[in-house]
Amino acid sequence: MDNKTGNVMIMDHPLIKHKISLLRDKNTGTGEFRSLVEEIAMLMAFESLRSLPTEEIEIETPIEKCMAPVISGKKLAVVPILRAGLGMVDGILKLVPSAKVGHIGLCRNEETHLPQEYYCKLPQMIEQREVIVLDPMLATGGSAAAAIDMIKAKGGKSIKFMCIIAAPEGLEVLSKAHPDIGIYCGNLDRCLNENAYICPGLGDAGDRIFGTK
Ligand code: PRP
Ligand code: URA
Repeated sequence: MDNKTGNVMIMDHPLIKHKISLLRDKNTGTGEFRSLVEEIAMLMAFESLRSLPTEEIEIETPIEKCMAPVISGKKLAVVPILRAGLGMVDGILKLVPSAKVGHIGLCRNEETHLPQEYYCKLPQMIEQREVIVLDPMLATGGSAAAAIDMIKAKGGKSIKFMCIIAAPEGLEVLSKAHPDIGIYCGNLDRCLNENAYICPGLGDAGDRIFGTK
């Protein structure tokens, strides 16, 4: 059973836990790190899309006609926060290949730790879509809250946020800023350090995915 409190769900699946442990290891190299981020995103999407509505349509099997459920309702938009969120996109698209993809560019200022916006391009009719915002790390919560502000400013209404590792500080900031969204976390870590990095965390997710630094 996953651990759900209000709009926040902390994943409890042993496969997700196992893969997050491998991600944390400083000896895990870029290629393996990238594959793990994608696999974890796919496993998390499986859980977080549980509430997608279905409708019955008529299908003809080789044996007979029958009514069978298919996904209905709002179309999905996946919105990674650049850069590290990009690593999660393909995992979601493996499950929902028809989803549209938007991009939000935010970079944390190294001294103030505040997010600075540098890009925003969202799919059309965002107001009619179920939007899933992706970022492996929820640290102070500034980047996630700013990304969701930007999506709401463009009309987005039905929004979920998915991260692999959250700090309690960031979870509190995000759920206070946007109490209407569902927040899905692979794990809730202990705290932030003096540089606003998550402890124990996994280091800098963008650098580990792209092999920079
Ligand atoms: C990292 C991470 C989040 C943000 C989290 O991105 O991917 O976007 O920090 O921190 P916060 O919750 O305190 O805002 P970063 O700004 O390092 O950019 P990058 O992905 O391009 O490396
Ligand atoms: N961004 C990261 O990539 N890692 C952290 O621990 C905090 C912010």
